[in-house]
Amino acid sequence: MPKNIVVVNAGPRKGWNTDTLLMEAANGAGSTGAGTEAFDLFWLDKYTGCISCFGCKKERYKGHCICRDGLTPVLDAIRQADGLIIGSPNYLSGLTASFRALYERLIFQNLTYNAQTPSCNTNPIPVLLIMTSNAPDTVYRSLMNEYQKVFNGFVGPTEIFISGDTLQLKDYSKTDWPWYFDAKHKQERHETIFPQECKKVFELGKALAESCK
Ligand SMILES: Cc1cc2nc3c(=O)[nH]c(=O)nc-3n(C[C@H](O)[C@H](O)[C@H](O)COP(=O)(O)O)c2cc1C
Repeated sequence: MPKNIVVVNAGPRKGWNTDTLLMEAANGAGSTGAGTEAFDLFWLDKYTGCISCFGCKKERYKGHCICRDGLTPVLDAIRQADGLIIGSPNYLSGLTASFRALYERLIFQNLTYNAQTPSCNTNPIPVLLIMTSNAPDTVYRSLMNEYQKVFNGFVGPTEIFISGDTLQLKDYSKTDWPWYFDAKHKQERHETIFPQECKKVFELGKALAESCK
């Protein structure tokens, strides 16, 4: 059976940094013969983060978020997947609200409150978590290390990829902040470093699919 990799875009912009890196990682996974199933969190039916109903703590729903909304098909797909590739831009020093909604429900459904076995996830899958930011890639390393720990514990072995110093606009001169951004540097970086990052995530996507059980 070909492996099934779920690819989740938690950013709104098609064809921009996060989406491009996710597509490259998905292509890398696909190059091994794995199938990919993509979700754009910004274009789902209405959904919320965890509503603290504690339904997932009932024995019969263990490991399953029982809230039914636009995120339900994504959670179901991840539960059945062999691997997960997920990406978000950095918004206000965190990940997007859409990412957080999925994250809360994905992690909390597996959390047991039992110190010996904190996670009830019996099917760990490899994860590639991609984050893009205007700030250089070092700035949010510790933030992403924290996410890595949680994903390791509740979803499966997780790799982090950060693309910093991204090109945010095609034309910075149309903004009020040309003094804030070095548009020439951003463009140059986008044309030189970003393609290398695309190659790197292709390899990470490929390695993820190869590591699936
Ligand atoms: C609402 C908003 C908030 C942002 N906040 C930050 C931030 O706190 N730190 C940062 O480095 N970049 C920030 N950015 C920039 C984006 O993270 C960056 O441009 C990212 O690469 C955009 O991804 P995209 O091209 O896939 O949309 C912000 C962008 C938006 C729209």
